Amino acid sequence: MKRFIIVANWKMYPPTLREARKFFAVLEKKIKPAKNVELVVAPPFPYLILAKPKKYALGAQDVFWEKEGSFTGEVSGRMIKNIGARYVIIGHSERRTYLGETGEMIQKKVKKALETGLNPILCVGEARRDGEGKFFGFIRRQVEEVYRNLKKKEAGRVIIAYEPIWAIGSGKPAKPRDVSEAALFIKKTIADIFGAHIGQKVRILYGGSVDASNARGYLTEPQIAGLLIGRESRLPQKFLKIVECARSLS
Ligand code: PGA
Repeated sequence: MKRFIIVANWKMYPPTLREARKFFAVLEKKIKPAKNVELVVAPPFPYLILAKPKKYALGAQDVFWEKEGSFTGEVSGRMIKNIGARYVIIGHSERRTYLGETGEMIQKKVKKALETGLNPILCVGEARRDGEGKFFGFIRRQVEEVYRNLKKKEAGRVIIAYEPIWAIGSGKPAKPRDVSEAALFIKKTIADIFGAHIGQKVRILYGGSVDASNARGYLTEPQIAGLLIGRESRLPQKFLKIVECARSLS
């Protein structure tokens, strides 16, 4: 049985504690547990403590690479884990763009997340697609700069979210077949470093303008292990429809 990972990335929403509470309450009431779906909700840091992650797992949207110390504004993996979260999104393109996160910083974050026992969800994806396929080189570099510093046993634990930047929040989702092709390419890149077994094992999610009407197209592609959802994860009813779609594909 294929087991999907569906991740809700709330980004910097909702604006109030009241709305966040309400959102969690709806999820906690309405989610029907399913063996074939691992649901991950990644709210902003201040709301992590509100969640009662029984029917879903909790994720953070970022982590710092040091254990503790004078790092104003940063949050450690241990803090995140201690609060009950099991996943952490790392290297989202919005952080790469607006916060200047580099490959080296992302690599250190992935390493620390693994050391702390968190499951890193590493985001990769090109800014644009050129006709000659040069964007594959870009994806390969993003994957290699993280994986070449991992140990073999760590490599299989990283989840990758393939999120082409042009598809995020644009209403222009990538075609399932193109995502599948990129997923295969990523697996091959990892297989070149760690061997075919690890390349095959790595789970690859898709993110970028996913909604209830297109989710099925991705989930039925054998190479795609799940979805990372931004905008449509902010409205519980819409998000639950996507979850239902994954559930129905058991
Ligand atoms: P989107 O965002 O679903 O709003 O396109 C996806 C993401 O950035 O994780």
